[in-house]
Amino acid sequence: MTTLHDAARATLRANDRGGYSVPTARLYPFQWNWDSAFVAMGWATFDEPRAWQEITLLLRGQWEDGLIPQIIFHAPSDDYFPGPDVWQIHRTPPTSGNTQPPVLATAARWLLDHARDKPAAEAEMAAIYPHLLRNHRWWEAARDPLHTGLVTTLHPWETGMDNSPAWDGAMARVPTTTSTVIRRRDTSHIDPAMRPHAEDYQKFIHLVDVFRDAEWNPAAMLAASPLRVADVGTNSILLRAEHDLLALAQRFGNPVDEAEIGARIARMRAAIATLWDAELGLFTSRDLISGEPIRIGTSAGFLPLYGRATTAAQAAIMSVTMTDWNSHITWPVPSTDPRLPSFEPLRYWRGPVWAVVNWMIAEGFAAASHPGLATLIRDKTKGLIETAGLSEYFDPTNGRGVGGADFSWTAAIYLMLA
Ligand code: GLC
Repeated sequence: MTTLHDAARATLRANDRGGYSVPTARLYPFQWNWDSAFVAMGWATFDEPRAWQEITLLLRGQWEDGLIPQIIFHAPSDDYFPGPDVWQIHRTPPTSGNTQPPVLATAARWLLDHARDKPAAEAEMAAIYPHLLRNHRWWEAARDPLHTGLVTTLHPWETGMDNSPAWDGAMARVPTTTSTVIRRRDTSHIDPAMRPHAEDYQKFIHLVDVFRDAEWNPAAMLAASPLRVADVGTNSILLRAEHDLLALAQRFGNPVDEAEIGARIARMRAAIATLWDAELGLFTSRDLISGEPIRIGTSAGFLPLYGRATTAAQAAIMSVTMTDWNSHITWPVPSTDPRLPSFEPLRYWRGPVWAVVNWMIAEGFAAASHPGLATLIRDKTKGLIETAGLSEYFDPTNGRGVGGADFSWTAAIYLMLA
């Protein structure tokens, strides 16, 4: 009898394209940035060399300025839009020109800490560390050149939470594309009711048009972008990654690196504190064009726990908020506050549960001395996957698996929880 454990390993193997795992066959046929960070941790539970390889191949797509792209197009495929012809970034391998939440330093440290083969892990880490440092320098130089302590996100895809209701207001200002023909492939693989709307895609692609016109120059992109948000998710994940990078710098870097990383940590921690929303009982993102907070509760609002950016009092309030959300659904954590009219239990980041987000939130509650809530989220996440399978995401009202099947990062999280 095969167990789900075996099935999770088999999914990672089936999605392996020779050293990197696609998120799932057909729907996402390339290497994705934050998916690969989670997937590396999943591989590490049974094949450490393969786990390090996942990271090495992701870094093959890193730009000279330090950017780690959202997508690395290692091999051509007609199954996905927008492909390299839309991005028009002439590199080998071709990549997208945007990024995704920086989980990588955290994953690399996790691999090192959990390594059974320590000498091999240390050798891998020594090679990877300079790339991680360069990437974190890119975040500050490209996305926080004024050193505010909050990095700017220029595209919903960069948040990893593409159609979250948190971006509705800011996206209302973004026009639809006039120069790129949209040839969506996702809705031929998946029920359109579970995917973003056509208009969302026209706006997503307009942003790509703007950045292509800015020739992918970070300063020009920042100046030209009609979308600029301080995403609480990305900033929390980056702050957490800075903590992990600091620990790595103590072994693989030098005191100058440590001072530099420490200064960024101090700035980010203070800046994330300004995203606290006492009335909603969690953190929210900020629209950097209007300057206004985006007062919509999303699962990203719990991630400052994972980023080590919260006070004990805030963590206690967030545990109450989480318990309240959970009384409206069956399976935590919904990606949007289930009490809101914008909550849609089937539509992608507007309601469904995502295992990777649960893993980070549970880790955050555990670190903030709320082990009961951490255990509840972990057990429910495992139970959800055991009931519904290795789906891309899940309906929080009934636990049904939705989106793509045989998903790499869901398999990885299952292996880490099991
Ligand atoms: C979707 C998700 C994103 C993920 C990608 C690949 O675009 O919104 O977070 O990285 O799929 O799984």
